[in-house]
Amino acid sequence: MKPQELHQLVFNFRAARAVMFAVQAGLFEELCQEDLTIDELVARLELHRVSTTILLETLVQLNILNKQGMHYSVAQDLRATLRRDTAGSIANLLLLDANHWSNWSVAEDFFRPGQATSFAYDRQSNFAVAMQQGVGEMNVRLAQVLLAHAPRHIVDVGSGPGLLIEQVLGTATDLKYTLVDFARTLDIAKGNLSAYKQFDVNFLPHDIVLGKLPIEADCIVISRLLMGFDETEAKQILGNICHGLVHNGVLVINEFDTDTKVGALMSLDMLVNCGARVYGRDQLAKLLDELGFEIVSEQATTVFTRALSAKRKGI
Ligand SMILES: C[S@@+](CC[C@H](N)C(=O)[O-])C[C@H]1O[C@@H](n2cnc3c(N)ncnc32)[C@H](O)[C@@H]1O
Repeated sequence: MKPQELHQLVFNFRAARAVMFAVQAGLFEELCQEDLTIDELVARLELHRVSTTILLETLVQLNILNKQGMHYSVAQDLRATLRRDTAGSIANLLLLDANHWSNWSVAEDFFRPGQATSFAYDRQSNFAVAMQQGVGEMNVRLAQVLLAHAPRHIVDVGSGPGLLIEQVLGTATDLKYTLVDFARTLDIAKGNLSAYKQFDVNFLPHDIVLGKLPIEADCIVISRLLMGFDETEAKQILGNICHGLVHNGVLVINEFDTDTKVGALMSLDMLVNCGARVYGRDQLAKLLDELGFEIVSEQATTVFTRALSAKRKGI
């Protein structure tokens, strides 16, 4: 097996889990019989509208559902497989597996019976390392997007371990940089950027949900930040960030692209794990519009992420 094939194999669990959940929720039973709009579906199954939209859009990206105008339908070739009452159905097996899935959370009991301690796992440090892996050239491309705006001061809000700023510093050491995150995360970033101590690199511990950015800059970037927050908090964050942007400054938002399979699955993952979602281009455009901003350019930073650059309207 090749590394790329292994990558594909293990990450397919997200797609598999989404399909199983859709079976559990009864989506296919309805959509195999007739094409329905989101409003019709949520009314019939008594589901939450926003969450159901995220699930349906993911199933569209997986080519299991088709969407025509406002209507969703199950791809014709899959109907007999996804209905529970047909000879060739796998829906009952999927339902069984969906309910067995939760047993993996206690699987450790069979491998270390009688032991009180769990497999070692430190969420904070694992998260920091996981953030550095699996994004390929994303920060290289995002650094190019930032530098194309010819900034003098780049602020990276939710900087994580500082890999984006390290990337920019690789080509531009004459700018001012500020990394904003929680103090504990900034300690990791300080370690990663220790080779750049002689340059104008600053670390600002700040909770961007709770307070306005207390500094000003002509270029502020947020990368994979908004997807951790519900819409109320996302609005709050954008408002707090814009406060620190000089009048003709640029705000760069790098997020997963919900019109891709990976991006849609990530949105579902954020929903289930944080009650949040990945905001698509249209949702971001709307949030920015409410703050008096408009998107001025956009670039892909990987095949499943893209950076939107926004400025105050009329700039
Ligand atoms: C998903 S990581 C992304 C890190 C980095 N921007 C990247 O794309 O690799 C989100 C980062 O936002 C930070 N963060 C989350 N909530 C925050 C808040 N309220 N204020 C400041 N930073 C926050 C987290 O600590 C984490 O480092």
